[in-house]
Amino acid sequence: MSNQVTFRVFRGEPDADGDPFGQMVDYAVDLDEGMVVLDVIHRIQAEQAPDLACRWNCKAGKCGSCSAEVNGKPRLMCMTRMDDIMEEVSDGEPILVKPMQAFPLTKDLVTDTSWAYETDRRIVPINGPGDSDWEFHQKEADRLQEFRSCIECMLCVNTCHVLREHQKFDEFAGPRFFVRLAGLEMHPLDTENRIPQIKDDFGIGYCNITKCCTEVCPAGIKITDNAIIPLKERVVTEFYDPLAIVARMLGVKEKLPKPSPRLYVGDANVKVARRALEKEKGRVENARKLERKRVERARGKG
Ligand code: SF4
Ligand code: SF4
Ligand code: FES
Repeated sequence: MSNQVTFRVFRGEPDADGDPFGQMVDYAVDLDEGMVVLDVIHRIQAEQAPDLACRWNCKAGKCGSCSAEVNGKPRLMCMTRMDDIMEEVSDGEPILVKPMQAFPLTKDLVTDTSWAYETDRRIVPINGPGDSDWEFHQKEADRLQEFRSCIECMLCVNTCHVLREHQKFDEFAGPRFFVRLAGLEMHPLDTENRIPQIKDDFGIGYCNITKCCTEVCPAGIKITDNAIIPLKERVVTEFYDPLAIVARMLGVKEKLPKPSPRLYVGDANVKVARRALEKEKGRVENARKLERKRVERARGKG
């Protein structure tokens, strides 16, 4: 690994309209063995730009604070090893570091993620059973554990085209919050029904299961397969299942047997979802090409 590297870092603040205003600034930095991207940013702060704003906390991939776009890909700076980054670039090529593009800019690499806190507050919390005589099986706990491992880094939200490109922040809860909603809806002791809210207020229909969110999740959560598709299936069952519609009209819906979780996994909705996914592959490939072009253009700016 070469001992010196050029970091091309976004420096700027919002303009009067709140749009990002700034430029990419080059910093030549000496590398030491074992450094991660966040170490390099800290070295830039220590030696060249003490006013470079960057949010971080744990430096261990646990707090979700250090999210940024490194070479055009959303990542945690503290978990991105320089050895891996150096393999992505040719000799002498600068490494691009930008703030998350989906959120409003605060300064340099720091973005304003207040939207996430507001969305979180709109979710009805767990509503457990009244009495304390209940059983909770280990396999049920294991299923929820995946959702509980979210570190709220918002990299998935930053990647999702519904928010990043179409700015549906008022209508769409985004992948992180579908993970939280799935954790609540699949909780064996929860008695709340959030499915109408998931359909109408949180706009799950906007998600066309491209899986881009899953690809960037540093916690390895299978966001699309394990959270979003099962929630979509529950919406379909609740609102579009002819049997449920007739039962609702007759006022006997509550007398129908409760669908088992297995029903949500193996039924035709999964096939529909998979077909939609196939259709989306071309779109994802195009989006990637565009992103590669954006990165190349940014490099060309020198
Ligand atoms: S799968 Fe859905 S939530 Fe995830 S990035 Fe694609 S559209 Fe967004
Ligand atoms: S689901 Fe994954 S990518 Fe999204 S906020 Fe949680 S940890 Fe980050
Ligand atoms: S500093 Fe906590 S996740 Fe990177």
